[in-house]
Amino acid sequence: MTQGPLTTEAGAPVADNQNSETAGVGGPVLVQDQLLLEKLAHFNRERIPERVVHARGAGAYGTFTVTADVTPYTRAAFLSEVGKQTEVFLRFSTVAGNLGAADAVRDPRGFAVKFYTEEGNYDLVGNNTPVFFIRDAIKFPDFIHTQKRDPYTGSQEADNVWDFWSLSPESTHQVTWLFGDRGIPASYRHMDGFGSHTFQWNNEAGEVFWVKYHFKTDQGIKNLTAEEAEILAGKDPDSHQRDLREAIERGEFPSWTVGVQIMPAADAATYRFNPFDLTKVWPHADYPVIEIGKLELNRNPRNIFAEVEQSIFSPAHFVPGIGPSPDKMLQGRLFAYGDAHRYRVGINADHLPVNRPHAAEARTNSRDGYLYDGRHGGEKNYEPNSFGGPQQTGRALWQPFDVSGGTGNHPTPVHAEDNDFVQAGNLYRLMTEAEKERLVANLAGFIAKVTRQDIVERAIGNFRNADADFGKRLEAAVQELRG
Ligand code: HEM
Repeated sequence: MTQGPLTTEAGAPVADNQNSETAGVGGPVLVQDQLLLEKLAHFNRERIPERVVHARGAGAYGTFTVTADVTPYTRAAFLSEVGKQTEVFLRFSTVAGNLGAADAVRDPRGFAVKFYTEEGNYDLVGNNTPVFFIRDAIKFPDFIHTQKRDPYTGSQEADNVWDFWSLSPESTHQVTWLFGDRGIPASYRHMDGFGSHTFQWNNEAGEVFWVKYHFKTDQGIKNLTAEEAEILAGKDPDSHQRDLREAIERGEFPSWTVGVQIMPAADAATYRFNPFDLTKVWPHADYPVIEIGKLELNRNPRNIFAEVEQSIFSPAHFVPGIGPSPDKMLQGRLFAYGDAHRYRVGINADHLPVNRPHAAEARTNSRDGYLYDGRHGGEKNYEPNSFGGPQQTGRALWQPFDVSGGTGNHPTPVHAEDNDFVQAGNLYRLMTEAEKERLVANLAGFIAKVTRQDIVERAIGNFRNADADFGKRLEAAVQELRG
């Protein structure tokens, strides 16, 4: 801010910012004290709606650097050359908590990356887990209702959480992951990130590949035990946010090694798991992770509200060479985020400094609306026009994919080895004895809070279906806690 006197919003100098204007000494306050009215009115409007999920988060700017030639797979310009750098903004978050909630909790972490590419912004709105609780967007509002506050008690209720999970056996894999050691990361720096969904890459020749993104932390994985987290959440609710900011201030720039699993399009139909089912991973033995880049965070935002609270990420923000897959969750998300942004930040959200393209120009004919800044000046606002306005390219960002059969509320197709439990069981069997003990204790502690025995039994049944030993141990642990 420049030097000079304090002013009103309209720029007039302020004489007294301590005493409001009254009718006589000790008299009532006057409407003509416009500074007082302006301050109170502005203050009332400081908050915008918090994100309906992932409300609590922290962000930082940085750089993505390409380290391998991926031009055989995608024609995305920002990935076109080894050594090429692209500015990024990354927002980390927890999911269920409200804006003021503690960071050190058992919850997935959001890992949302905005690449400011020369072909427009590419957003990869992922999590720190490779899978998710459900596989169809139509279940998302119900699922989140069970994670958030109960309409009657105003608190998260174990009954609701386990009722939904036990009735949604496809959640068993993600729940096994979440109650394992990685369920409470020590900080945002010490966890991996995943695009989670399968996305389409297409190359210059129009060939299609299905890809999954991995961001492997270079800081190493560090987690908190349930006991450590309970203490930290009480002592320092902002632990993750503070850790990220202070590390960057110290010049200790956190980084992630970026990799992709690549599946040629022709494999998808016969792969042993439905490759578009978000509750499943592609085992690395089937499709190895190929290193393609480095992501580094090296600059803190200067204003949390402007750059973090008002930042918007959309899975629908693609660039040429990258597109969606038929994953039903992803398809639902293509609608949900833009809609949330228009409600939460407004119709011109895309034009705020953190959100607008930094290496490209947005050339649309959309105009006006709340807080339009007049950036288009007197340019024509329609297309086609004869005045040299922007024109369509004739080339879609992504290639079409084949569909078959009639419309209908079809369940996600099942491939040869698909069921709701196989990968949860595999994950359990990969764990060491000590990891299994902590997993069972974490789950049992929560399930024991459920008031209805039928829900408890159904919940344990899902883990038994994943692995008989898992179910047996869990049943014993829950019984011991419930007496
Ligand atoms: C169909 C399922 C889903 C729906 C409908 C949905 C919807 C939403 C909505 C409405 C927001 C708030 C956006 C805003 O106000 O700016 C949000 C935030 C977020 N979601 Fe989802 N979500 C879904 C699944 C997922 C999945 C599977 C992931 C990760 C793989 C994910 C990751 C995130 C992240 C990281 C944020 C925070 C973005 C930010 O930092 O601004 N969501 N989601």
